[in-house]
Amino acid sequence: MKTALITGFTGQDGTFLTRLLLDKGYKVIGLVRRVSTEPPRRVRGKFDFTDALGSEQLVLADGDLLSTSSLNAILRQYQPDEIYNLAWQSHVGLSFKTPEVSMRDYEGYVNLITAVENSAKKSRIYQASTSEMFGDRDESTRLNELTPLKPNSPYAIAKTAAHYYGTMKRKQGMFISNGILFNHESEIRGGDFVTMKIANGVRNWVKTGEPIRLGNLDSKRDWGYAGDYVEGMWLMLQQDLPDDFVLATGETHTIRDFAVAAFKAVGYELVSNGKSGVEEVLTVNGKDAVGVDPQFYRPNEVGYLLGDATKAWAELHWKPKHNFESLVTLMVE
Ligand code: GDD
Repeated sequence: MKTALITGFTGQDGTFLTRLLLDKGYKVIGLVRRVSTEPPRRVRGKFDFTDALGSEQLVLADGDLLSTSSLNAILRQYQPDEIYNLAWQSHVGLSFKTPEVSMRDYEGYVNLITAVENSAKKSRIYQASTSEMFGDRDESTRLNELTPLKPNSPYAIAKTAAHYYGTMKRKQGMFISNGILFNHESEIRGGDFVTMKIANGVRNWVKTGEPIRLGNLDSKRDWGYAGDYVEGMWLMLQQDLPDDFVLATGETHTIRDFAVAAFKAVGYELVSNGKSGVEEVLTVNGKDAVGVDPQFYRPNEVGYLLGDATKAWAELHWKPKHNFESLVTLMVE
């Protein structure tokens, strides 16, 4: 039986990855930092891990990426075949207000690599790199593993440092693969990311008529389904050699497109007044449904993301199963 350690175990991707690895027969160690909510938080339906916890196929290990003693102890005890580093403050907008947290996330990753060198040399590492590292590009570019990085937020700067730190350690012989993942969403996406904010907002609008307040409606994202993307993470660690891989759908849509599709999924036609910025209002049958609120603007925006996952298709034989429409419908439902 293979053993995998997951940091960021209670997040969206940690939850999907835990399900995937348990189904593949892995023993999963979830690194858990005690917070006020009891982990694991999402324990419904296919994410009910009670049986696995009971059978010890799933173990919660108390630790923290900022505590090297906890990392060394956990690695010495479990000697994981694979480590998935998903722990990170993942809200880009918030990182402008708490930049030190992003830098500490980077420090935590360096601690993890050092602990692997000291205590579990054979572990393979997956690092959650991100399309945010590409920064603000013009729309002629399809972004892939060779595109230069121009990070544009504290979050992305720290992720870029981790990306390059791992690449440097790979040259010294460590098995570290960087997954450059474009946005990936799901039915358990946190409510402060724009997709789930819209999905929840549509349901609330139907009930109460309260409009959804959003920031920049013009930015474009390449959105996929988290369940598809964790499969790609796993595939990266099954290769003979470590490498960088982009995971993306190859389709991009504006935030406005997502809102229009979300209202359409419940039978309403959302129409813009055609104005720009805070003047824009989107209505359904003349009734306000989406408005723009400058408090949700970011100091720097990544206005356009469109991924080119040709390498993952060719080398990992990975392809996403969900497209934009099926993702929107799944989230609204
Ligand atoms: N969160 C949020 N809330 N975003 C809004 C809103 C709003 O009310 N209104 C407009 N947006 C815009 C943001 O400005 C951004 O351009 C876009 O919607 C997407 O924002 P998020 O859903 O917060 O995701 P993200 O693209 O910043 O980051 C996500 O994807 C990255 C991969 O590219 C996160 O999951 C990151 O952790 C991940 O690395």
